Formats: sequence, C-alpha cells, structure tokens
Amino acid sequence: MEEGYLSLRVRELAPSATQAMNMRAKKLKAEGNDVISFSVGEPDFKTPKHIQEAAKKAIDDGWHAYTPNAGTPELRQAIAEALTRDTGAEYTAAQVVASTGAKFSIYLSLLALLNKGEEVIIPAPYWVSYPEMVRLCGGKPVVVHSSEKEAFAVSPAALEAAITDRTKLVILNSPSNPTGQVYPARTIEKIGDLLEKRKLWCISDEIYNHFIFGDHGHKSVATVSEYCREHTITVNGCSKTYAMTGWRLGWIGAPARVAKAIDDLQSQTTSNPAAITQAAGIAALKGPQDCVLEMVAEFDKRRFIIHDMLNDIDGVVCSMPSGAFYALPNVSALFGGTIAGVKVECSNDLCNVLLDKAHIAAVPGEPFGAPNHIRMSFATDAGSIEEGCRRFKNLVEKGEGV
Ligand SMILES: Cc1ncc(COP(=O)(O)O)c(C=O)c1O
Repeated sequence: MEEGYLSLRVRELAPSATQAMNMRAKKLKAEGNDVISFSVGEPDFKTPKHIQEAAKKAIDDGWHAYTPNAGTPELRQAIAEALTRDTGAEYTAAQVVASTGAKFSIYLSLLALLNKGEEVIIPAPYWVSYPEMVRLCGGKPVVVHSSEKEAFAVSPAALEAAITDRTKLVILNSPSNPTGQVYPARTIEKIGDLLEKRKLWCISDEIYNHFIFGDHGHKSVATVSEYCREHTITVNGCSKTYAMTGWRLGWIGAPARVAKAIDDLQSQTTSNPAAITQAAGIAALKGPQDCVLEMVAEFDKRRFIIHDMLNDIDGVVCSMPSGAFYALPNVSALFGGTIAGVKVECSNDLCNVLLDKAHIAAVPGEPFGAPNHIRMSFATDAGSIEEGCRRFKNLVEKGEGV
C-alpha cells in the first residue's frame, strides 16, 4: 500500500489511552485471570428498569423512523427543563440539540465555533478527548496546568496568562474527569468574568454534575453573567447520570443561534440520535430520580474507601474526590524505583506493572496531562476496591503480586 494514504488528521490522532488499558485488562480477564478494573469510565450500575421499559415500549409503539434532527420536541423540552433545573439558567427547547452522546456534542460544538488555527484553552488534568477533538476541528489546544494544592481548579490568573489574540474559547469540566474535583463557585465566577473581559467562548462539560459529594456545590458558568449566558455551550447527557453509556444520548444547551448551527452540522453528519434512545432519555429525565440519588450515595461511600486505602500505600498521595467517580493519586514518589523487579520511571510503567503483577487496571496520567498521577475509577463495587487497593499496597511495599 502506498505511503501516507491516510489523512494527516488521522495520522496525527492519538488513540484513546483509557480504551487501550481497558482492552489489555479485558484480554487478561478473558485468559482466566481475576482482574480488578479501576480503568472504566462508566457507572457499574444497570440502566434503571423504568428507562429500559420505556425503550421497549417505544419499539412496540413503532418509534422506527427518523425523528427531527435535533431530537423530538418532547425530548428537547425535557432536556431544556433539566438544564434549567440543574444550571439555574433558563433554557428553551430551541436552545437544545440532542446528539449521539456528549462526546459528539462537544465535537459539534468545537466544529461550530473554531476556525483554523484558533486556540482553545484546556485546563489540565483534562479529559483525554479534548485536545484531540480540538485538533480534528483545526484548532490548537493550549494546556494550562493546575495543581493538587488548588484542588485541581485552574487559577483564573493562569488562564489569563495563556490568552493570546488567537484564543477563541475555554473548555471547562466540573466535576472533572480525571481529577474527581469540583470547581468552587468563586473560581467559576472569576473565570466567567475573565471570559467576558477577554471576549471568549466557553464549552462547559457538566456531564458529571449529579455526582457531587459532601457540601460541594455545582456552579454553571452560564449563570455568571448575561455575557456568559450568551457565550457558553453547556454539555450534558444520560451516560453517567442514568448509567446509560451504551445508549448514546448527549446534548448541548446554547444560545439559539449556536444551537441552530450545531443542528445544521448534525443534519449533515449523524442526523438524529437513535429514536429508541430518545424515548429512553425522556423517561430518564421525566421519571423518578431516586435511582440517581442511590448511585451518588454509593459513590460517596466508595470515595472514602479508595481515598483512605490509597493514602495508606507508601509513596502514594491521593486528594479526596469531591465529584465524578475518579481518584487521581499522585504516584511520582514511586518513579525511579523498582517494583517487583521492574524499573518504574513513569505512570505508564507503574500501570503496566500493576496490571502484569497484581492484575489491577488503572490508567496512566500522561494522556490526561497529569504525568505524576494515575487515574483510578471507583465505579466498581466496594469489595473490589478494597481488594484492588490491598494488592496495590502489597505490590508496592513488599513486591508481592498475585
Ligand atoms: C468529561 C467527559 N465528558 C464527556 C464524556 C462523554 O460522554 P458520552 O458517553 O455522553 O459521550 C465523558 C465520558 O467518559 C467524560 O468523561
């Protein structure tokens, strides 16, 4: 085959690191090993029964055709109400576009806003897909780092220092994957003020907004000012809140003119999200919400277990997660040493030795812009979290594998 037949865009694309680690873990498991996975990015719960039933009914009722491109009127209305309730900013159905997952909603948002060479500020640690999606849309990712000291909330001063005359927008993600932290309301307000001062746009990925623990509160940047309201695309979806990752339903809430542009882009790409999934989405948004509260209560218990057990391992320091379902332990004290006879120089080496010797799967921090850390999801039952952390400790402190 001739060289370079694939587009430059594809050749420069980094494959998803989370999926790569999942694949390795699944392979080990398929070979009969007892693998404990901390690498998944989805709730370990089944989609609630009443949502499943709504989808079955939609099949029986003949929801078999195309729907309006941006979603059925009933779904868009339900999303507008959910966005209004959750963010505190008013949304109408005309400001909503439903898509096949929040990931695609973010991609369409970037496509709608970015011209070639325009810069997008991405606070690190970040979700792995943001920089790649920015590049695919012709933009340039500009990474701004945050630290554990500031609970991984990027400082407005650091953001401002990264702004140039080519900066178009900032991507915010609170609660965050991978940090498991929630931005304080005050920081969101200051960032909102900065957006207005420097005339920037914002994509606010709020996919984990229901998973917030303790007395941490959720502040949406769209509520900071009239300017922010008019220049923010808020992203959310059913995947995490209702344990519906496989159903593929996400959405944006944006000023109507931007929603219209995203609707147009979608009309020339995927068209509407699956009709059956839309029926399930309506049931999720309009039905009882105790299923969400039950999940949150369970994640809340687990965050203490994982936090306490990780901090009990020599060389591992972990902040208490305040949102989402991720812990991001700092493991840099282990770099330069040897674990079970294997030299560990970076988070990638550590994840490999954890998987190979202790059969526990975690994701290296490098692709999240967090090279001193590894990401451990606690969307796995409490018993497995305990057993996984025990194995981690035995491996690091005594060199004992399984
Ligand atoms: C921060 C963040 N945004 C968006 C998504 C995408 O969600 P969806 O399944 O709706 O595409 C994920 C999924 O892992 C995520 O972690």
